[in-house]
Amino acid sequence: MVILNCHGEVDSDKTQWTKKSTDVLEFYVNGEKVVEYHADPETTLLTYLRRELRLTGSKLGCGEGGCGACTVMISKWDHINSKIIHYSANACLAPVVSVHGCAVTTVEGIGSTKTKLHAVQERLSKFHGSQCGFCTPGIVMSMYALLRNKSVPRAEDIEGCLQGNLCRCTGYRPILSAFSTFSESGSGCPMGANCCKQNGVINAVDDPHSALNVCFGKYDPSQEIIFPPQLMIKSRSEQHQTLKFVGERVTWFRPTSLDQLIELKSIYPEAQLVNGNTEIGVECNVKGRMFPVIISPTCLKELVTTSNTDEGLIIGSACTLTSIKEQFQDIIQTTETFRTQWMRAFLDMLHWFAGDQIRNVAAIGGNIMTASPISDLNPILMANESIATFRLHSRAKDRQVLMDQSFFPKYRTTCAEKGEVLISVYLPFNTKDEYMKAYKQSKRREDDIAIVNAAMRVVFHPGTCKVLKFVAAFGGMAATSVMPEKTIQNMIGREWTEDLVQNYMQWIREDFPLSLDAPGGMVEYREALAASFFFKFYLYVKNCLIEKGIIKENIKPEEMSALDDFSQHYEFGTQTWQGTHSNQALEDLVGRPVKHVSGEKHTTGEAVYIDDMPVYKDELYLCFVTSTRAHAYVRNVDISKAMTSPGFVTYVNHRDVPGSNNVRVIDDDDRVFAVDKVTCVGHTIGAIIADTQAHAQRAAQLVRIEYEDILPIIVTIEDAIKQKSFLDPSKQIIRGDPDKAMEECDHVIEGDVRTAGQEHFYMETQVCLAVPKLEDDEMEIYSSSQDPTTLQSQVARNLGVQRNKVVIRMKRMGGGFGGKESRFWLVSNPVAIAAHKCRRPVRCMLSRKDDMIMTGGRHPFYAKYKVGFMNDGKVKALKAELYSNAGHTIDYSMAVLSKSTIHFDNCYSIPNIHVRGTACRTNIASSTAFRGFGGPQSMFITESWITKVAEHLGVMPEKIREMNMYKEMGEFTHYGQSLDPCTARRCWDDCIEKSNFHKRKEAVDLYNTKNRWKKRGISCVPTKFAVGFPEFRCQAGALVNIYTDGSVSLTHGGTEMGQGLHTKMIQIAGRCLEIPVDLIHISETSTNTVPNTIATVASISSDINGGAVKAACDKISERLAPLRKEYPTLEWKDLVVKAFMNRISLSATGYYKVPNMNSKWDLAKGKIEGRIANYYTYGAAVSEVEVDCLTGDHVVLQTDIVMDVGRSLNPAIDIGQIEGGFVQGYGMFTMEEPLHAPSGHLLTVGPGAYKIPGFGDCPRQFNVHLLRNSENDKAIYSSKGIGEPPFFLSASVLYAIKSAVGSARNDSGIFGPFRMDAPATAERIRMACGDNFIKQHKHHADEKEERNLTPWSVTA
Ligand SMILES: Cc1cc2nc3c(=O)[nH]c(=O)nc-3n(C[C@H](O)[C@H](O)[C@H](O)COP(=O)(O)OP(=O)(O)OC[C@H]3O[C@@H](n4cnc5c(N)ncnc54)[C@H](O)[C@@H]3O)c2cc1C
Ligand code: FES
Ligand code: FES
Repeated sequence: MVILNCHGEVDSDKTQWTKKSTDVLEFYVNGEKVVEYHADPETTLLTYLRRELRLTGSKLGCGEGGCGACTVMISKWDHINSKIIHYSANACLAPVVSVHGCAVTTVEGIGSTKTKLHAVQERLSKFHGSQCGFCTPGIVMSMYALLRNKSVPRAEDIEGCLQGNLCRCTGYRPILSAFSTFSESGSGCPMGANCCKQNGVINAVDDPHSALNVCFGKYDPSQEIIFPPQLMIKSRSEQHQTLKFVGERVTWFRPTSLDQLIELKSIYPEAQLVNGNTEIGVECNVKGRMFPVIISPTCLKELVTTSNTDEGLIIGSACTLTSIKEQFQDIIQTTETFRTQWMRAFLDMLHWFAGDQIRNVAAIGGNIMTASPISDLNPILMANESIATFRLHSRAKDRQVLMDQSFFPKYRTTCAEKGEVLISVYLPFNTKDEYMKAYKQSKRREDDIAIVNAAMRVVFHPGTCKVLKFVAAFGGMAATSVMPEKTIQNMIGREWTEDLVQNYMQWIREDFPLSLDAPGGMVEYREALAASFFFKFYLYVKNCLIEKGIIKENIKPEEMSALDDFSQHYEFGTQTWQGTHSNQALEDLVGRPVKHVSGEKHTTGEAVYIDDMPVYKDELYLCFVTSTRAHAYVRNVDISKAMTSPGFVTYVNHRDVPGSNNVRVIDDDDRVFAVDKVTCVGHTIGAIIADTQAHAQRAAQLVRIEYEDILPIIVTIEDAIKQKSFLDPSKQIIRGDPDKAMEECDHVIEGDVRTAGQEHFYMETQVCLAVPKLEDDEMEIYSSSQDPTTLQSQVARNLGVQRNKVVIRMKRMGGGFGGKESRFWLVSNPVAIAAHKCRRPVRCMLSRKDDMIMTGGRHPFYAKYKVGFMNDGKVKALKAELYSNAGHTIDYSMAVLSKSTIHFDNCYSIPNIHVRGTACRTNIASSTAFRGFGGPQSMFITESWITKVAEHLGVMPEKIREMNMYKEMGEFTHYGQSLDPCTARRCWDDCIEKSNFHKRKEAVDLYNTKNRWKKRGISCVPTKFAVGFPEFRCQAGALVNIYTDGSVSLTHGGTEMGQGLHTKMIQIAGRCLEIPVDLIHISETSTNTVPNTIATVASISSDINGGAVKAACDKISERLAPLRKEYPTLEWKDLVVKAFMNRISLSATGYYKVPNMNSKWDLAKGKIEGRIANYYTYGAAVSEVEVDCLTGDHVVLQTDIVMDVGRSLNPAIDIGQIEGGFVQGYGMFTMEEPLHAPSGHLLTVGPGAYKIPGFGDCPRQFNVHLLRNSENDKAIYSSKGIGEPPFFLSASVLYAIKSAVGSARNDSGIFGPFRMDAPATAERIRMACGDNFIKQHKHHADEKEERNLTPWSVTA
């Protein structure tokens, strides 16, 4: 044991800080003791684990507590209650010094592929719960921490523990299925007595019917690693040991008595008191702030305990939210219900407050003192008239302050005096005649900050419904948490009757006069929420009063729906597919649901991503200097301050590029570094190179740039249309004569619609490590690129060397989704240039913030259409103008536009059509490839006009869809390609039947007649996706090397980003070589093994690389055939040795090109000849939703998908793509909306502001079926590409929502077509409902213009 360095000397600060203190950090990691003599308080636990301890299982996904990729379990001895506590936490926010005396468990500590997987890891991998695997260690650790506290959790515990984790790949269903096996109902093998182990079956996955049919071991909690006993023994003495850690810029104190704390605060009045560091950590990690003195109060009994009085509860300011929750749950059990109403409100709110990792460490005092205008707790504390106690060194007595409006005098400010410490907060119990509730609405239901929250409390004169007192507080309605003072006054003496609601709406508007340009935007929606919340409260209280017999008149049954919550629980879904032929050999795994080859390694943290690679001794780090202006000349770049910053090595810019500064994606218009002009915020100007990441980031902050703005700044499509800022030429497809056909139609309608962009939000941000070889200008580059060959050519051009000097290596990406198809160059090329200049390895992994600002996302679209149709709904003619927002450079925008025009028919035969697409050049980051490549946007536009036709005719959209759908045979697309056979209708019919659509539609209609404020909707949407590429891209290569121990090294041109490409390639190689797949290994994709590869995109990679792998393996099989014939019983390994001895080559390349791809395109003229798609993948989905019409919130009750994937190569992986694509699409169509300021700055940066779907958004029942008896002679083994095609099916949710909103509108007397843009956010849903609350809160449409207001945000 290491002896701690206890100084016991008078502190140099000349304070009373004379207790014994230590500056040696001591803690345990995975059972091993760690002692650190130079701990820097600015180092996070995550950085320490990854860089110092080389435990790279925990990942950095955001650095702000928003994704959970960094989740670890922290255990400590609770000396007050004498027990060990285990909790999950975000290692990216926890300062390493905060775990002094704790035991940290990381994913590496619980199981390994080398020894034994933990039950969590085993089940997750067996249930196909990982794809790219970047999120997986964090998810494993959240579940693990839950099990350490509750070995048989309830379903809601499991869902709760995952609220703080995100996954961008899987769609969550398989993870929930895997973990539900730990719950009471699911413990043990789901097969029970039929468990395959009992029946002696070894290959448990060889069952073609259900992913649930998986065998796994029992979970035995007694086998868990023990808490280090030394920490229990030491803990008490350590409580009396003060800590002081002095870092490069920050000093951290952990006092052991309140007196010490108060004294410290008097010496350092500006010091931050850090409990969970969930606010301060974000300020430092994301905003680059630094607080020189930090004091941790987490050891002070007065601050970490609660105490009961007869009248109320005193909560210590450092009590964590989880500890508060546990105590409240106990108190509620033993206290009269009416007394604890505020506790229930608090508990309700805590459910929606962040995720477990945050709640476990964040303290109530941190929430109060942050004074956020959207704090979830402050409105409750205010409405319950709580009293805060402050202590100040120079004052004899504590100060007690009522938490009312004056507590928060201005934005993020409390009434605390300088140096004052919040000791506790007192909350009085409620009385018999009062009622209290809290409400919150966010963009995403779980783990999101509020748009508006509120707490309301009413006290009646005893036994009456006459208001004695009304107290309410709101968040999100002003710069602070506010109380509606007039409303509070006016309520007094009023009876609790219907007219109060009407009066309230008027009063609240006067209390909260939000201007249309108010920060945060969504002004009318926020006002409507403030009204709707009261209406909910009104009904809730009325219901209580009815139950007490105080009010006699009942609430109308249909109004009661305002009170019901959505039920949250996930129910099982089913997944079905057609099994393999009965005569297929057992070891031939093609067509079987084989696990992802890296699945187990994902769960144990052994899968290595680029930033997990060990740091070279002389390695440097790069941090970008980017533009903060959208359109400007760069007049001066001053790096003088940065040069004096610690660790600074050099600055690189365009002058350091030895070759060409240009970057060619399709056109040659991108530059590695801007030269003298910037055209978007985030445009790369230069980069700082320093010895460490922290130093590079700090130095980059010190670079000063002088700009001269250029006008105009074009942000939106509408701006671009006004300024005629277009990329030439437009793309168009013309079939027939739509103008003439319109004249013959019974109806002609026009409309317009918009889809927002979408951020890729791959969990691993763009990353690169470049290693110069110091000889012949060679360079080795590890880059998260979907297109290594293009990167190779770009870097060679930038460095001015031949391509054969540059090797690109790519093992795996933590997700790509098109975002790493071209935009990798933004990181990789500057890193390569810096490595060349410094002649040292250089690394850069973008921060989430930089990644979102710099790299761009999906193209936003705006469309105008005119459609002609007959009385029966048959569409005869269509004209449409599509506009996409391309951003500041061309990138793939023209190709995306082509794909949009090609997909504009979706699944419908339209005899006369003219669709024209134009790309707009704007001053935002370049829009780029994203799953579907423009197809989802254009199919969405199509479904919008289809829906409008239906609304116009007063029939179900499904009828119009069916009527116009392509038939199975004899159909041609609008660009003249034959579809034979088109399985759209088969998928559709199967989906309608399997989902029981018509019966459920009746039930939905019935539900809607009975409910006024909750509405349901159901919708079926088909999809057709063209799988194909321009001719030259339809080729691939592979290399197979067989070694004389029988092992096989396989390489091909595709990259692995989670989609399971390598798994499928190994399955194919196994079949071709007739060997078990565990003999085959794919190490990585590299440009020196398989040259001139094609980007792994467009859902075509299995087809082309599979063809190449097969060709290579077949070559070797052919060479081995004579030996096999001669020695039929020879084992594979011996066969290989024999072949070697017979001088038969055991290495072969394979090459494949898709036959008959002979298209000629001229979309500028609207002409396409030949086949542009090799084939089409079809599908259909039915989704049913429930909408809260008062808040705009919704849940997806059920989704059923039928997808034609031909003969699936691997049904588990294909279903994973379908579910994952669906949920990613669900994000696009319901919640993800990048917002820009009119100045061009992206406002929705990081997971805190930009919401992708979380666990709670997974359809509660999620059924996926692969279409049976489908063949495809155009791709390997009759399979079909699947990455992109299912994405659009998520639009079924939007149209189900639209249908539910339609019912709400009808109840408000509004009939006829209405527009629903994507995404259908809570705001759009609520505002579209059009009820009385909305009408009253709609500002005059032209108020903005009249007052010349600049909106807070715009949608690009
Ligand atoms: C991912 C994520 C999700 C979140 N979700 C929510 C949410 O849903 N709702 C919500 O309301 N908030 C949310 N937050 C904000 C934050 O978690 C809470 O405000 C939390 O309660 C802060 O507590 P803390 O202990 O971590 O604060 P810290 O970061 O430790 O401290 C915050 C501030 O409080 C001051 N302070 C702390 N204690 C005292 C004291 N005793 N006396 C004087 N000053 C003190 C500190 O000096 C510091 O300025 C979220 C944050 C993150 C990162
Ligand atoms: S990296 Fe810690 S939560 Fe995202
Ligand atoms: S597997 Fe979850 S983010 Fe990729």
